[in-house]
Amino acid sequence: MSRKKFVAGNWKMNTTSAGAKALASGVRDQLAGFDRADVALCPPFPYLSLVADAVRGTAIAVGAQNVFPEPQGAFTGEVNAEMLLDVGCRYVIVGHSERRTIIGEKDELINRKVRHAIQHGLHVIFCIGETLEQREANQTESVLDNQLTWGLREVPKDQVDRLIIAYEPVWAIGTGRNATAQQAQQAHVFIRWRFSQIYDNDSAQRLVIQYGGSVKPENAAELMSQPDVDGALVGGASLKADSFVAIVRAAAG
Ligand code: PGA
Repeated sequence: MSRKKFVAGNWKMNTTSAGAKALASGVRDQLAGFDRADVALCPPFPYLSLVADAVRGTAIAVGAQNVFPEPQGAFTGEVNAEMLLDVGCRYVIVGHSERRTIIGEKDELINRKVRHAIQHGLHVIFCIGETLEQREANQTESVLDNQLTWGLREVPKDQVDRLIIAYEPVWAIGTGRNATAQQAQQAHVFIRWRFSQIYDNDSAQRLVIQYGGSVKPENAAELMSQPDVDGALVGGASLKADSFVAIVRAAAG
């Protein structure tokens, strides 16, 4: 089954309004007319609207890096799915390891976020991945199994086409040390198999599974040539239009 590759740039807590505009316009101009891979830019909340304006009318989508699973109301500092849709988001990243470890998000909250975002029509990039310690203790598959089981709890089958999974081994994020193509492929096969158990084989075959963790122009083609690596979630290398676009082009083969 051929799945269209999907490359998303996770800008994390970087850029300024001028920098965000320049980066989004740079990516837009370099990718004019390109449609051989799906592309999304995920800036910080304050720059979502201006990035949405910069890519309006193109195939480039916009995503947020977080969402809070409640309707409008007294939730100081939080932003819900309706607001993200209102400012032009198609995607939202949920379960990123930085939010799990630095902010302390637990599986239960992550699951509520996944359900809330999907129910409201956002496409969710759901991140999972093991730490180095867990990999060395041979726990990679049980960690992925757990994160999938918890994160997808009560996510109905008729909504899973709005789900993307990003396999992001924690030891590869921001370290310059990417997983090998074989390590990524092996984890992705496991994730697809587990997904087929939770839902069904057809949904699992359609599922787009991104790899994330030190993806660069130099390693992107090899990683994404693996049959189950359907794209990339890119942090550091998404902060320069040239390197991000090179990764997008590598995805398209
Ligand atoms: P990195 O980050 O590409 O800088 O390793 C990836 C991510 O955290 O999504």
